[in-house]
Amino acid sequence: MFKNKKILLGITGGIAAYKAVDLASKLTKMGAEVKTVMTSHACEFVNPITFKSITHQPVITKMFDAESDIEHISLADWADLVVIAPATANIIGKTASGIADDLLSTTIMATTAPILFVPAMNIHMYENPIVQENITKLTNLGYFFMEPEFGILACGYEGKGRYPMNEEIVFNITTYLKYTKDLSGKNILVTAGASREIIDPMRFITNHSTGKMGLALARAAHIRGANVKFIHSSISIKVPEYLDSIKAVSAEEMHNAVLREYPNFEITFMTAAVADYTPAKPSKQKIKKSDDLNLELKRTKDILLEIGKKKTSDQMLIGFAAESENLEKNALQKIEKKNLDFICANNLNVSGKDETEILVLGKGTEIKLIGSKFSVAHQIIDVILKSTKK
Ligand SMILES: Cc1cc2nc3c(=O)[nH]c(=O)nc-3n(C[C@H](O)[C@H](O)[C@H](O)COP(=O)(O)O)c2cc1C
Repeated sequence: MFKNKKILLGITGGIAAYKAVDLASKLTKMGAEVKTVMTSHACEFVNPITFKSITHQPVITKMFDAESDIEHISLADWADLVVIAPATANIIGKTASGIADDLLSTTIMATTAPILFVPAMNIHMYENPIVQENITKLTNLGYFFMEPEFGILACGYEGKGRYPMNEEIVFNITTYLKYTKDLSGKNILVTAGASREIIDPMRFITNHSTGKMGLALARAAHIRGANVKFIHSSISIKVPEYLDSIKAVSAEEMHNAVLREYPNFEITFMTAAVADYTPAKPSKQKIKKSDDLNLELKRTKDILLEIGKKKTSDQMLIGFAAESENLEKNALQKIEKKNLDFICANNLNVSGKDETEILVLGKGTEIKLIGSKFSVAHQIIDVILKSTKK
């Protein structure tokens, strides 16, 4: 995935430095060439040998090292992307003030590669207006930042400041190797997951959708700077806390949430697998076992049809169709019937998997996309952005 990609990993003196060992390992296993620069304080937390053994690459800790044949500028020129993880309040402050007094801060100053900061610190440090002002300043200058997570921090406090999951950092790295915040200012609505229709307090009707494609779209759009709202039914994966999300479990809840939110969004991806039928009379008590049971079902509201009718000239609506037969024909019919701009059609056999194969169909567009759901999500967004620029 990261074959031929050169990633410079900067480690600073935070307690989460040990977690960056796993990040270095993940990136190396994914094919990246990872060179590590550690501040002297970072070396108090993790021995440089650990990173060297994992990345099979040199680890540089000193600027004035007569033994090293790596010059400070050569690392800056070498990198496709610089990732500072964890990033201390100190390195953020130094970068914002133009200070270059060690190898890492000098490399940051000298590189023209994109730079991703992954701040991790005590909640009061993170909330300190000076740190926040530095982050805002650097963000406005085009540096990328991830938000730390909420949780119990190493210092014993509970709050925002925790080092994010390395998987999330990898999603950011994947994105910033190719994209910028090109969706800044765009409002994007994404629905995902399988609805649950209540039969009785114990039982429900559902389907195989895991919500992975919708989450991939929401995550990709968020990292590229969009304001994303994520409305989800039951999904098999944890929704990241950075996503502004609403839980809407049944078809009716999904209908209400989507119709309420839809007018505020210029691009809507309807990936949720919403039930077409729901029990006509859900039982308040658990249905006792007897002979054969006939379950009467009634039609749910067609959310896509309703919002398609409300679509304005400023809005784009993208539907998803999972079909077991006549994929293209059924998808094209859906575009017309539901007033969609695009439909992403996939065969049912990719349901639940991390890889996918999607046919994007629109007026004058027919593109086949293959890859991980996250990479396909980026490519779907690209197709849509390109069509708006025509
Ligand atoms: C045990 C311990 C844990 C620390 N954890 C953090 C941290 O998580 N985040 C942070 O910004 N600073 C943390 N610090 C403070 C930094 O190490 C300090 O600001 C240092 O100057 C950072 O230097 P550097 O940015 O050059 O690595 C910690 C200090 C100690 C002693």
